[in-house]
Amino acid sequence: MLKKTSTDLARSTTTSPRGTALLHDPLRNKGTAFTLAERAALGLEGLLPSHVQTMAEQTARVLENYRHEQTDIEKYIALVSLQDRNETLFYRVLLDNLEEMMPIIYTPTVGLACQRFGHLFRKPRGLHISYEHRGRIADVLRNWPEPNVRVIVVTDGERILGLGDQGEGGMGIPIGKLSLYTACAGIHPAQTLPVMLDVGTENEEYLQDPLYLGLRQHRVRGPAYDDFVAEFMNAVAEVMPRALVQFEDFANINAFRLLETWRERACTFNDDIQGTAAVTLAGLLSALRITKRALLDQRILFLGAGEAGIGIGELIVAAMVDAGATDAEARQKCWFVDTKGLVVKRRTDLAHHKLRFAHEHAGAPSFLAAVKALRPTAIIGVSTVAGSFDRDTIETMAEFNERPIVMALSNPTSKAECTAEQAYTWSKGRAIYASGSPFPPFTYHGKPLVPGQGNNAYIFPGVGLGVIACEARRVTSRMFAAAARALAGQVQESDLAIGRIYPSLKRIREISAQIGAAVAGVAFADGLAGVGKPDDLLAFVKSQMWEPIYEVHAR
Ligand code: NAI
Repeated sequence: MLKKTSTDLARSTTTSPRGTALLHDPLRNKGTAFTLAERAALGLEGLLPSHVQTMAEQTARVLENYRHEQTDIEKYIALVSLQDRNETLFYRVLLDNLEEMMPIIYTPTVGLACQRFGHLFRKPRGLHISYEHRGRIADVLRNWPEPNVRVIVVTDGERILGLGDQGEGGMGIPIGKLSLYTACAGIHPAQTLPVMLDVGTENEEYLQDPLYLGLRQHRVRGPAYDDFVAEFMNAVAEVMPRALVQFEDFANINAFRLLETWRERACTFNDDIQGTAAVTLAGLLSALRITKRALLDQRILFLGAGEAGIGIGELIVAAMVDAGATDAEARQKCWFVDTKGLVVKRRTDLAHHKLRFAHEHAGAPSFLAAVKALRPTAIIGVSTVAGSFDRDTIETMAEFNERPIVMALSNPTSKAECTAEQAYTWSKGRAIYASGSPFPPFTYHGKPLVPGQGNNAYIFPGVGLGVIACEARRVTSRMFAAAARALAGQVQESDLAIGRIYPSLKRIREISAQIGAAVAGVAFADGLAGVGKPDDLLAFVKSQMWEPIYEVHAR
């Protein structure tokens, strides 16, 4: 099968750098792996030590140094520095050690990196489009040197993980997510672009911090904000017309509206709403393979009615409707508790996005009271409140469920509604548990239990791969539902036997390819694809995946 290598990248640029410029170009640099012939041909003689290393030798050196670092943030800095020097090697190391390194380049460590962004800053990456650039955003996009951008991840930094407004520091998230697009789904790094829309911050600590790197002003709001985002989206359509735009970590007050505004007009999705929904639905479908119950027999209670919660609820409703329920019946099986209690019809304070899940019912003074009143089969925590699934809650769930489904999805680890150990211990080893950030395996009375991580990285890279492979014009809910089913289909019986409802990340490339094929399949079926339909969708998708292998520059 034809694999993309850095050769395609070289073709995409008009002039190839030589000498020190080549060594400082992370997309083309091979460091000590440049061969003697390449060194002679590319003006590199004398610029490198004599011994030519294999990629395996380079990898061993990187790992030795990486594992020597004492703290997670030091490991993060080591990896980002490698990415800034030699992207091919960075992706080789990352892909081969994904389970070890994903918690470093993504949640939870990336959260810390965002909080300390201005203090850790070494080298810019991606585009920082500030409100001061309004009226000129297309020109700013034209400053980006790579000509073939296919995936943009954009944030305005207002709701980073569960950490709130990080302003400019939020840029760590698009960078981390795009690294995962490449590692997990083989999107060529030159085709990815992280973007920060800097409209200010409400974070007073940062506004007072002399090392803060963003605009020192409160956030732009209202029509001026919407106009700014619209200018950005229109500029992308003009300058980078083949790019998929993923919205990431926007606050509730903007995220739902922006999704509604743009989903029918551009090739775009919101990962916090739609990606989370798909990964959670996949976990639920896998859990039902353990409980041997049907989706329509579930009653699901959410703690938190924000982007993640409502997005998951809407996709579960869609899946239940697919399984034969009416929309109203499906909604009746999904319940929410927010900061003010159970989301019920009599409340007058409900934001628009919650109204479709407001049921005719008495209120409940606490989450535990709601659990007792509704007797859910599954509880899903997306509240950002650590410890909110307490002992009473889990014990109560275990009273009326042989295998209670407990998903404590809030990130980072410190925000999880309960830990894996708590869920397993309090349920006497019966909970089917998944979390947002990783927890180690646990042994309960000799029985090994492996918590699944409902990591969006299972979903968005594969969705992006499928969308760009077939040049889909839109990203639809049907695509996310197909992605969820494809992911659940990758969970093996051996996983389920140890309570694990997500597959091993070791197989992420295959999983992403399967998801990509499922998503492209929907695009072709729904008339949204921009290319002709291939005979073998999976092979077609796989043929577009980049491998981190060095290109031979000269023989
Ligand atoms: P959000 O800010 O949109 O929503 C949080 C919701 O929780 C809000 O509705 C808020 O009112 C509610 N809440 C806060 N305190 C509460 C309390 N004491 N009781 C009840 N409700 C309370 O945030 P979003 O995007 O929905 O994310 C929520 C959490 O889920 C975050 O920690 C995020 O990191 C995590 N998440 C996990 C994902 C995963 O595991 N794959 C993916 C996306 C988000």
